[in-house]
Amino acid sequence: MSNHRNDVDSFAAQFKALSNPHRLALFRRLTSCCPPGTSCSTEDAVRYSVGQLGADIDISISTLSHHLKELKRAGLVQMARKGKQVECWVAPQTLEQLSAFFAELPAQPKDTRNKPMSEQNTCCGTSAVTDKSPSAADHDAYRQSVREKYSQVAKANNERQGCGGGTSCCGPTDDGAINTLISTRLGYSQADLDLVPSGADMGLGCGNPKAIAALKSSETVVDLGSGGGFDCFLAAREVGSSGRVIGVDMTPDMVSKARANALKGRYENVEFRLGEIEHLPIADVTADVIISNCVINLSPNKPQVFRDAFRVLKPDGRLAISDVVATVELPEEMRNDAGLIAGCTGNAALIDDLEAMMRETGFEQIRIQPKDESKEFIKDWAPGHNVTDYVVSATIEAVKPGGCGGGK
Ligand SMILES: C[S@@+](CC[C@H](N)C(=O)[O-])C[C@H]1O[C@@H](n2cnc3c(N)ncnc32)[C@H](O)[C@@H]1O
Repeated sequence: MSNHRNDVDSFAAQFKALSNPHRLALFRRLTSCCPPGTSCSTEDAVRYSVGQLGADIDISISTLSHHLKELKRAGLVQMARKGKQVECWVAPQTLEQLSAFFAELPAQPKDTRNKPMSEQNTCCGTSAVTDKSPSAADHDAYRQSVREKYSQVAKANNERQGCGGGTSCCGPTDDGAINTLISTRLGYSQADLDLVPSGADMGLGCGNPKAIAALKSSETVVDLGSGGGFDCFLAAREVGSSGRVIGVDMTPDMVSKARANALKGRYENVEFRLGEIEHLPIADVTADVIISNCVINLSPNKPQVFRDAFRVLKPDGRLAISDVVATVELPEEMRNDAGLIAGCTGNAALIDDLEAMMRETGFEQIRIQPKDESKEFIKDWAPGHNVTDYVVSATIEAVKPGGCGGGK
């Protein structure tokens, strides 16, 4: 039973990896033809150098290496260094297992093929029909688990109640003294802290996006995952009454808290909208700047976050983000630990992968700068887990091209 379960899990991971058109094309390329000068009659897998593959197909090397890593993670592709080259290949056993999987599927009776799914009988009875693809459902379930954690954080009052156990990105809440201490470690000044309504600084960030955003008067700023509104209120002062700030958060309790804080501070140029950062409730070409503090790491679909940010930005619009990033592959136990995921470490993406996602979206002038000093506070987020062996806080900057400056 457990072997069967393992098989199902590993096929599910492989199909998920192949659900990206680039990766599917890449996999077919690796399995369907021989590179020049090789013979396919051999029983061994045909090995490609990554450089050769990059030259053969029309995607950049960084994008290619991101997709190869995803295929490797799913167990579909093997990679090894040979001299100065990195080679990749699909092992013959992998293809055999996939073929065996499809060979075991029952053929569908002809007379039911054109009936709607809801009228068809399957071997387990009438099929349950849903209009969601499995990956969309997975993403929803994942976001729901994160949302529940942040709902608890938003609701927690003066108790030090959190989700990860440590003083973390989802740790303490309204304990003002502790949050002040955390925020000054993140690079905020006492003056910043004095400016915002009490309760807005929840100590949930991992950096200070305002410090890299170079905000100007009259600009429109969007904050992805605005929490209690801390960064929105600081941005609101910088853009002034002719500018505006829109905070987006998927947790209703956070949005309510932020709105109450805005009332408390009488902010008229800030609004908070309930929504997911993968599907922003904001019109195209609205923002001059998108900021975010310790949120994108939580997303189950980071490429979609960058695509939607790109859509919402004006030409020449910029990203100014602080986030937790992975410096090496996270171990399986870490990636499956709900506490670490909600605590902003377990779902962090590799720096190279983030860069590839942003480049693929169309961003330019991409700069991801890890801040080693952040390990000093990240180590307290999940005591006993050695998370700083794998993750660090970084600043992430990029520009949407297309304005007068061409984004250069
Ligand atoms: C670590 S907290 C950071 C809050 C805020 N940026 C700060 O620095 O205080 C993460 C916030 O992002 C929100 N969040 C997480 N994933 C999200 C998603 N996919 N879409 C929208 N909001 C999300 C959570 O509800 C939570 O309020």
